[in-house]
Amino acid sequence: MSEVGSTKRFRPETRLVHGGTLRSQFGETSEALFLTQGYVYDSAEQCEARFKGEDPGFIYSRYSNPTISMFERRMIELEGAEAARSTATGMAAVTTAILAPLRAGDHVVASKALFGSCLYVVQDLLPRYGIETTLVDGLDLDQWQRALRPSTKTFFLESPTNPTLDVLDIPAIAEIAHKGGARLVVDNVFATPIWQSPLSLGADVVVYSATKHIDGQGRCLGGIILSSEAFIAEHIHNFMRQTGPSLSPFNAWVLLKGLETLGVRVRAQTDNAAKIAEALASHPKISRLIYPGRADHPQAELVKKQMRGGSTLVGFEVKGGKAAAFRVLNALQISRISNNLGDAKSLVTHPATTTHQRLTPEARAELGISEGFIRFSAGLEHADDLIEDFAQALEKA
Ligand SMILES: Cc1ncc(COP(=O)(O)O)c(C=O)c1O
Repeated sequence: MSEVGSTKRFRPETRLVHGGTLRSQFGETSEALFLTQGYVYDSAEQCEARFKGEDPGFIYSRYSNPTISMFERRMIELEGAEAARSTATGMAAVTTAILAPLRAGDHVVASKALFGSCLYVVQDLLPRYGIETTLVDGLDLDQWQRALRPSTKTFFLESPTNPTLDVLDIPAIAEIAHKGGARLVVDNVFATPIWQSPLSLGADVVVYSATKHIDGQGRCLGGIILSSEAFIAEHIHNFMRQTGPSLSPFNAWVLLKGLETLGVRVRAQTDNAAKIAEALASHPKISRLIYPGRADHPQAELVKKQMRGGSTLVGFEVKGGKAAAFRVLNALQISRISNNLGDAKSLVTHPATTTHQRLTPEARAELGISEGFIRFSAGLEHADDLIEDFAQALEKA
C-alpha cells in the first residue's frame, strides 16, 4: 500500500477528503474496504517478526486493519492529535479513555452535565472498581479546583453539554487539571471537530461518538480516542488489543466516507439550527431557548473564544411541561422523534424521558432538564420547511 503524504499543512476541508489515505496497488479513487479478520504471512519468520513488533504489517483486525487505520489517520490529521484508536461505539471510546489508565485508589472529577451513559460510567461503574469520583458543576471553576486530590488522575467533561448546551471553559479547566497533576478528557461530540479542537485548547484526550456527526447519516455506530503517542501507547494500545472494543472495518469505511462531507454537513446543519433558534426564541409558547451561536447564550463570550462556530443543536423549553412537549413532538411532521443527534434528518428528543431518564427528578432539575425541555438536532432539510413545521406543531402545545 502507498501512503498519501501528510495533509496537516492543508485546511480542514482538504484534510477531511484526503487525510490518511492508504492506496492499494490498484490505485483506487475511493478508499478500499478491507473486510478481513486476519492476515497471512509470507513466512513463519515474518509472522514472528510481526508479533515481536519488528515488522510493521497487520496482524489481526481486533488490533488494526488498513481501513480502520485510514479512519484513524484522517481523524488524527483533522484533530491535530499524534495518535488515535477507534472503537465500536462512542461509549466504548469514553469507557476506554477513562477506565484504561486508572487503577483502584485513583480519583476522577467530572462535570455533572453528562450524557446519561457517560454519567453511568463515572458515577456507577468506576466506584465498583475502587475508583472514586466527584461530580461538579462544570461551569464553576472553584468546584473543579476544590475537588482535586493528590489521587486525582482524570478530569472529564462534555462541552457544549448534552442536552442543555452549556459551554465549559476548556483552557481554564485544563490548567486546573494540569496544576494538580491530572489529565483532561473532553467528549467533543456536541461541538464536532469542525467547531472545536480541545487538544489545541489544552485538553489531553478527545473522544467522539462517531455515530453522530461523523457518520451523520444514521447508518452505523463508532467512536474514537485521540491523544498523544505517549498516552495511546501507555494506556490505550494494550487495553484495546486485549479487551477488544474495536471498530469493525465496514463501519470504519462508512465513517471514513462520512468524514469527506463532515464540514459541509456541519456548516449547513449549523446554519439551519441558527435559523430555527432565531425563529423560536421569541415564540410565546417557549419559555427558554439556548443556542451556543446566539448573543443571549449564558457563555456567549466563551463560545467566541473557544469555538469556531455555533452548534447543530438547539435546546428549548415548551410552556406546559411534559404534556405540552409531547404534543409538540407528536405534531411535528419533518423533525422525527429520536434520541440520536447529528443526523442529516432533523431529530427531536425529550431528554427527561429518554437520554436522561435514569437521573432523579432533582438531578434533572439541577441540570435544567425540565419536563418541557426539547433538544433539537438540525438536519439538512430546508430551514423554512423546518420553521413552518415548528410553527404548526407549537400551536398544538
Ligand atoms: C455526548 C455523548 N457522548 C457519548 C455518546 C455515546 O455514543 P454511542 O451511542 O456511539 O455509544 C453520546 C450518544 O449516544 C453522546 O451524546
